[in-house]
Amino acid sequence: MLAIHAGQGAEEELGARFVTCFMQAADDAHLPDDPALRASLRAYMEWAVRDVLRYSPRNSTVPSGAPTPHWSWGGLVRPDPG
Ligand code: HEM
Repeated sequence: MLAIHAGQGAEEELGARFVTCFMQAADDAHLPDDPALRASLRAYMEWAVRDVLRYSPRNSTVPSGAPTPHWSWGGLVRPDPG
């Protein structure tokens, strides 16, 4: 997933727009209006977008063999957020 986005030169502001679209999609899909759910979805997507944009500069390469991140209600579970 990181590799297909890498090196595209996407501007930082695309990240905020991505998160806004994602939260609108949650509304469109009639997901419950539960504040804990919405906050968790937003926190995950803000983190994921930051991860994607880390590799946005042209010529960026994504190291192979990285573990698939796991999220839960409280945030990143694996790899250990440190
Ligand atoms: C700045 C934020 C992002 C932008 C501008 C963006 C843009 C794009 C674009 C243009 C593609 C199509 C690539 C192609 O087919 O050549 C794509 C594919 C994809 N993106 Fe993103 N993306 C962003 C963040 C994310 C995040 C955070 C996730 C997941 C958490 C994600 C998951 C995917 C997946 C799974 C695909 C492949 C879809 C498929 O081909 O079936 N993207 N993205």
